[in-house]
Amino acid sequence: MHPDDRRSLRISERGKLASANVYINAYDHEHSTVGVAMSPWWTGAVGYEVYLRSFADSDGDGVGDLPGLRSRLDYLADLGVDVVWITPFYPSPQADHGYDVADYLAVDPQFGTLADLTGLADDAHQRGMRVVIDLVANHTSSRHPWFLDSRSSRQAARRNWYVWRDPAPGGGPPNNWLSYFGGPAWTFDEATGQYWMHLFLPEQPDLNWSEPAVHDAVATILDTWLSRGVDGVRIDVAHCFVEDSSFRDNPTPRSPPPDDADPRAVFDSQEHLYDIDQPAVLDIYRRWRAIAERYDAVLLGEVFLLDPDRLARYVQDDGLHLAFCFDVLKLPWSAAAIRSTLERYLSATQPGRLAWPLSSHDDPRAVSRFGGGQHGRRRALAYLTFLCGLPGSPWLMQGDELGLADADLAHATPADPIAQRNPGAAGRDAMRTPMPWEPGHALGFTTGTPWMPLGANRTDADTVAVQQRDPNSPLMHTRTLMRARREVSILAGDDPVRWIDDCPEEVVAFRRSDTLVALNTSAQPREIAGLSHVSRARIAYASADDTTIVAGALRLSPDTAAIVVGADRRS
Ligand code: NOJ
Repeated sequence: MHPDDRRSLRISERGKLASANVYINAYDHEHSTVGVAMSPWWTGAVGYEVYLRSFADSDGDGVGDLPGLRSRLDYLADLGVDVVWITPFYPSPQADHGYDVADYLAVDPQFGTLADLTGLADDAHQRGMRVVIDLVANHTSSRHPWFLDSRSSRQAARRNWYVWRDPAPGGGPPNNWLSYFGGPAWTFDEATGQYWMHLFLPEQPDLNWSEPAVHDAVATILDTWLSRGVDGVRIDVAHCFVEDSSFRDNPTPRSPPPDDADPRAVFDSQEHLYDIDQPAVLDIYRRWRAIAERYDAVLLGEVFLLDPDRLARYVQDDGLHLAFCFDVLKLPWSAAAIRSTLERYLSATQPGRLAWPLSSHDDPRAVSRFGGGQHGRRRALAYLTFLCGLPGSPWLMQGDELGLADADLAHATPADPIAQRNPGAAGRDAMRTPMPWEPGHALGFTTGTPWMPLGANRTDADTVAVQQRDPNSPLMHTRTLMRARREVSILAGDDPVRWIDDCPEEVVAFRRSDTLVALNTSAQPREIAGLSHVSRARIAYASADDTTIVAGALRLSPDTAAIVVGADRRS
């Protein structure tokens, strides 16, 4: 297909989506609420992370690939997904499973071809979905030609494309900065007598974003992918690109870190004043934003800063369109904690600019965080329901819709470099296991040998095929929830959250216009009373069926959330 044809296909697909918004708007008029027709396409979109290596394998080599994903697009469209984010598919030594890129503009043959990717984007557009790819630009692979040149000599043309420093005056690393994956953020290069910086593995050298040629090279990469038909980028560690120009030490804690087996806990024990989150990083996104606007594309940042004010700086109008709020992956099952945390993020940012992940390929899954088993499943669905009520984008990690807990890999050899390098550290394998599609060999993920075990706790009941036949399964509940979210169009818009203060204990609730969203974290039923227009109040979705409205009161069963429309309150 000629590139211009692809572009016009995309535009006509966007036309289709725009008319869907007009339809939604008609619903809004009837209900006297604010419409969303003028919003950019990504406003309130439902996102879905595809961890490509583990999603669907089409050729039996045991590794998920683009044709495998392409063959499952109908599944994602039926689920109610608006945007699919695909983790890295670039040529890579896979030292960090693709987050070590050796060629930014190509597709690694183990994942397919460029034609598979553009075909996948076209197919997604025909189904009304968008495709976002991973842009990993804090670092490259140590086997990227740029780094090979940079390392070749101090006079190399690209020497300054990476962060090289002399040893400290008394010898050793230039400062006390740490790698997220354990040990110092510096590795010594014998041949040229300097250290290179790496916030992750030594095999992932950091690019030097004070070098203008790096800005130009990555801007061209972004432009190229958008011109190839993808709808945006998820920016890997978007807060890390720039470091302090005088490379000062970070302040260190007075007491030792809590768990020295876990490198991320050690990393968190420093105050990261100088290695990450430097103001100049925002200049990069100003330039990228101008490129993205030309293609009507989205910039979605992985900004791993657990601080609302720092995060908010990234989602200004000339910066990223959206950023993930990772604090929602850390919250305990407590209404008070959920409210106070969300309140701080919502008041620091413009409505609709945050993405709310239920899980991710780096953190324990929601079902496991909330206690595992049926209990954890019930809570995870309630939490997702609540997140679906917030302004912004709810995000699922593949398998969240099946109620998957972290996989039991007790006897498996670690695949994650965090676990390989740090004996005793949990690592991230348990969230990255192959997707269970149907009973039988490898639960339908591959006809070959899966690149990693599925987990001793995965059963036929976890598969898509089995859950599709059970109206009470997590999958069918998630599908119903997403349909309800689409129907209640106020939820995908920008209407602000108004918290309800007089909630019963262990309940957190808010209203957006006449829509009420409430979560009961108690093991007992709880009631929110005082709903007027009782005949109009209707439960659009409840995560447990025994939730009711009786005599102007919403009765939430234990560990349950509900979305209620027509829910004006008397007060
Ligand atoms: C964040 C990614 O989500 C993670 O998987 C990766 O290891 C690091 N960035 C380094 O690229």
